[in-house]
Amino acid sequence: MARSTLFARKTVADICASGEAQGQHLHKSLGAFSITAMGIGAIIGAGIFVLTGTAAAKYAGPGIMLSFAIGGIACAFVGLCYAELAALIPVSGSTYTYTYATLGELFAWIIGWDLILEYAMGAATVAVGWSGYFTSFLANFGIALPGALTGSPGSVVTLADGTTVTGLFNLPAAAIVLLLTALLILGTRESARLNNLMVGVKLFVVVAFILMGIGLVNSAHWTPFIPENTGEFGSFGWSGILRGAAVVFFAFIGFDAVSTAAQEAKNPQRDMPIGILGSLLICTALYIIVSAVMTGLVPYTQLNVADPVAKAVDVIGIPWFSILIKIGAIAGLTTVILVLLYGQSRVFFTMSHDGLLPKVFSHVHPRLRTPWLSQALIGTIVAVIAALVPIDILGELVSIGTLFAFILVCGAVIYLRKSEGQLIRPFKVPGVPIVPVLGIAFCLLLMAALPLDTWIRLVVWLAVGFVIYFAYGRHHSVLRNTP
Ligand code: ALA
Repeated sequence: MARSTLFARKTVADICASGEAQGQHLHKSLGAFSITAMGIGAIIGAGIFVLTGTAAAKYAGPGIMLSFAIGGIACAFVGLCYAELAALIPVSGSTYTYTYATLGELFAWIIGWDLILEYAMGAATVAVGWSGYFTSFLANFGIALPGALTGSPGSVVTLADGTTVTGLFNLPAAAIVLLLTALLILGTRESARLNNLMVGVKLFVVVAFILMGIGLVNSAHWTPFIPENTGEFGSFGWSGILRGAAVVFFAFIGFDAVSTAAQEAKNPQRDMPIGILGSLLICTALYIIVSAVMTGLVPYTQLNVADPVAKAVDVIGIPWFSILIKIGAIAGLTTVILVLLYGQSRVFFTMSHDGLLPKVFSHVHPRLRTPWLSQALIGTIVAVIAALVPIDILGELVSIGTLFAFILVCGAVIYLRKSEGQLIRPFKVPGVPIVPVLGIAFCLLLMAALPLDTWIRLVVWLAVGFVIYFAYGRHHSVLRNTP
């Protein structure tokens, strides 16, 4: 294909060769353990600590366990595809890069643009959840932040005494983003160390919740397992299970962020599949068990609260355990923000090398060996969004953007098996094309269960992306300008 066309493709060999050259300044410090921890770091967060209760109360009832199983199966198909591609094409661009090798430059750009929804907007969304848990944790010790500084402009903030004030600026959300940005600038290895520690804390808390709660489960709360549909699509019944799966899909987002670390992995061919599939498996199992315990402790009708895990802990009746849960949630949400901010800078790093973004995004600090300018810029913008934007709808936008990217990843596996079938694949998806096709079908199903408004926002976001490509990327593309 002519390099000058909008659909100019890169070959896998080209990508790997240029990836090698670009990545030589990055520090190859991550092993299988850190990569798996990074996956768990990105996965367990607001989804389980915040969204599960609402999804059970409004859509699925105790059948939320099935919703998690559906989400897990969908992600398993997609995760297998990511594992094949991340081992075959170990560069930081993830889905963006895979699309460059299949559908060509224009679509690659659009996917890179779409990934902003997953990584940057995802980080902002989770930062708002972090702020909620942090504020409530401080309140346990009698420390009250000024209410107006804990919510976005115009939002209603409920204070400890039950009164309400109008939010002005979500200071804790902005502060955590800036703090983690500083850490990411200081070093990937340092960030991975903090991540490993925090992942340990959150896993401990989640497992402790399961162990302490399981004996107190009242199985009567699980009946009816799938409450009867109310007559409206998505409100209980099987359609409710599906809507629930689409909502809690947010809880799985992040396993793919592992693939953006490929250029900093010591042995990506072996460790990428382990990290992606290992973290996904562990988290899916934990989610199903946590949702079983949660709905077994508290009737699902009472779970429509911002902190459902803490509500379930009240049944266990040990006050200090509720504080421990908050510590686990804060640690959990911290690592999600950390990994998503990291992933965003690495995708931009690759896009900038390709000329589709300005050079500032691929400048690596000579001593710290991190893309510091890019990281600082991303952190500042995400902090502003987290502080100012009411984010309740953003979660669904993050999910639909991610599902869109997942579909292209599954498609890329099928395409590359045909177009570059001769390449040696360190990890192979079994049963191609059935597994990737099932991945696509599940993602489409989950997208279909999301509201129309969310679809419209996605289309608008992608349209803005097209405009930017035609105004900037098309003229600066390295591929199109290389004779
Ligand atoms: N999976 C991540 C979370 O639930 C994004 O917070």
